[in-house]
Amino acid sequence: MTTATANVDERKTEEPEKPFKVQIKLRRYDPETRPDAYWETFEVDMYSTDRILDALHSIKWDQDSTLAFRRSCAHGICGSDAMRINGRNRLACKTLVKDLDITKPVTVEAIKGLPLERDLIVDMDPFFEAYKEIHPFLVASDKPEKERIQSIADRDIFDDTTKCILCAACTTSCPVFWTDGQYFGPAAIVNAHRFIFDSRDEDAKTRLDILNDKEGVWRCRTTFNCTEACPRGIEVTKAIAEVKQAILRGKR
Ligand code: SF4
Ligand code: FES
Repeated sequence: MTTATANVDERKTEEPEKPFKVQIKLRRYDPETRPDAYWETFEVDMYSTDRILDALHSIKWDQDSTLAFRRSCAHGICGSDAMRINGRNRLACKTLVKDLDITKPVTVEAIKGLPLERDLIVDMDPFFEAYKEIHPFLVASDKPEKERIQSIADRDIFDDTTKCILCAACTTSCPVFWTDGQYFGPAAIVNAHRFIFDSRDEDAKTRLDILNDKEGVWRCRTTFNCTEACPRGIEVTKAIAEVKQAILRGKR
């Protein structure tokens, strides 16, 4: 028997994976039908490749179509499905169910610190307002005829913070943000960092002045929650510290 034939035979005899049962305990909220939030548990059949997003789809499609949550890309790129899973901010589409403790119900609730609208959906407007305030765009006075050249070393300085997908997992894991909704929050500072340290940009001073405000970087208590929550592995606390140092220097 050739090797190729042996592989085909092995595939034929492979047992299909059996699903396992998981209980998902969801924090539900719909102000149109009930004034308070409450917990509801669903049981779903999951496979080892399934993520919490698949569990939510299974519940919505097969058990309760009123369940509300946001998602788009399903692959960790769009940043729309940040939620609290077993008390920790994560992306539902990047959290494998088998990696969680499934001996008890897996809790899933909306991220904290932003107004709850329905089930797992929060009002993201305050988050994006803070983001807009730090001028998240390149500011340059010249109009070059060709690309602005940047050295590899200069690009490296802000490489980490270019990875942000604006999921809000960092900002909504920050205890300062929970108690003070005026605080810009880690995500806005990360995105300010991305432009402050860009050698092609001319608006660093303005952004540093904005973040030197009483609701700016000095509110950060270095709890590292943001760094732990970031699904892109961005060193959020380090970026905030670098912005603080730039403010003290008075330049990037
Ligand atoms: S820094 Fe990380 S956690 Fe915060 S918004 Fe960006 S991607 Fe999300
Ligand atoms: S659905 Fe896009 S990041 Fe999860």
